[in-house]
Amino acid sequence: MSTEVPLLQVEDLTKLFPIRRGLFQRVIGHVRAIDGVGFDIRRGEIFGLAGESGSGKSTLARIVVGLDGASSGRIRFVGEDVHTLRGTRGFRRRVQMVFQNPGSSLNPRRSIEQTLSVPLRFHGIAPSAIAPRVRELLEMVELPASFRAKYPFELSGGQKQRVAIARALAVEPELLVLDEPTSALDVSVQAKVIELLMRIRNELDLSYLFISHDLSLMRNFTTRIAVMYLGKLCEMGFTGDVFDHPAHPYTQGLISSVPVVSEEEAALKPAVERIRGEIPSPANVPPGCSFHTRCPAAFRPCRIDDPAFVQVGFEHRTRCHLFPRDSTA
Ligand SMILES: Nc1ncnc2c1ncn2[C@@H]1O[C@H](COP(=O)(O)OP(=O)(O)OP(=O)(O)O)[C@@H](O)[C@H]1O
Ligand SMILES: [Mg+2]
Repeated sequence: MSTEVPLLQVEDLTKLFPIRRGLFQRVIGHVRAIDGVGFDIRRGEIFGLAGESGSGKSTLARIVVGLDGASSGRIRFVGEDVHTLRGTRGFRRRVQMVFQNPGSSLNPRRSIEQTLSVPLRFHGIAPSAIAPRVRELLEMVELPASFRAKYPFELSGGQKQRVAIARALAVEPELLVLDEPTSALDVSVQAKVIELLMRIRNELDLSYLFISHDLSLMRNFTTRIAVMYLGKLCEMGFTGDVFDHPAHPYTQGLISSVPVVSEEEAALKPAVERIRGEIPSPANVPPGCSFHTRCPAAFRPCRIDDPAFVQVGFEHRTRCHLFPRDSTA
């Protein structure tokens, strides 16, 4: 195994949002949006983070890029605490984010050239170098040079997302945090944007934190995957291992709810019950294993004890009472 310092280290991260009520906005409880999450992203890796709506993915993304602070825990970037780095230009340049909705992340009053110039100017690129760099960026995301004079309303959703990707790349980051970058797009456009992201990653030697509610979307291009449920990681491992041998009933359910296109695929699919019901509110997390209210395999301890995150294979971990501590493969 490599001894290189990981690009990003997330350690025991927790984020609580206060719930306020009444005239005086008294705090009556907390939403546990993230609860003790830890993982590393290695240089060159595409790390996939999957989970249903409300599982805490965007909250985690915002903390990683420094848009928000954690309640506890730590994030290191190349070994250095992000809390100290946050706000420094160096860090803001090295970690960039692409948001889910390109429509609202682009300023409607700015032309594409102006949009792409903002980060370049902010990071001290010489004025004479800006126009050529804008052309280069448009080329990188496969948009014609004439697009620099256009405004967001003249662009399709896919084109807007390409501009948002170009803006994130403008300052030559090392890590891109992609928060559901294709979920607002049509399926055909989705595939093209993913293709583009893969090409760019190979050319520029970038690392990605790729976030999606759709586990199946990430099957073909992520290196490793983590599955999040109500603010906690319930499974993590190399993508092939997680898809071939999903350990957690939640992961099994997510994989089995992926539509199949052929009989061969149907035959390979594990016969697992689909996940029942809706995800509970993170303001009211069930006791014990937070998934037990929807788990087809739930038994007595699941309602009482929160399972530990244990090793079930090579760099493959899960949090489930079916795998007691030290049942290591
Ligand atoms: N600023 C905030 N104040 C209070 N609660 C918040 C805030 N931001 C997020 N939350 C809550 O934290 C939980 C996790 O939200 P988050 O947006 O991170 O989930 P998500 O996995 O990104 O969901 P989606 O797939 O819908 O984007 C949700 O219950 C949400 O309501
Ligand atoms: Mg989100």
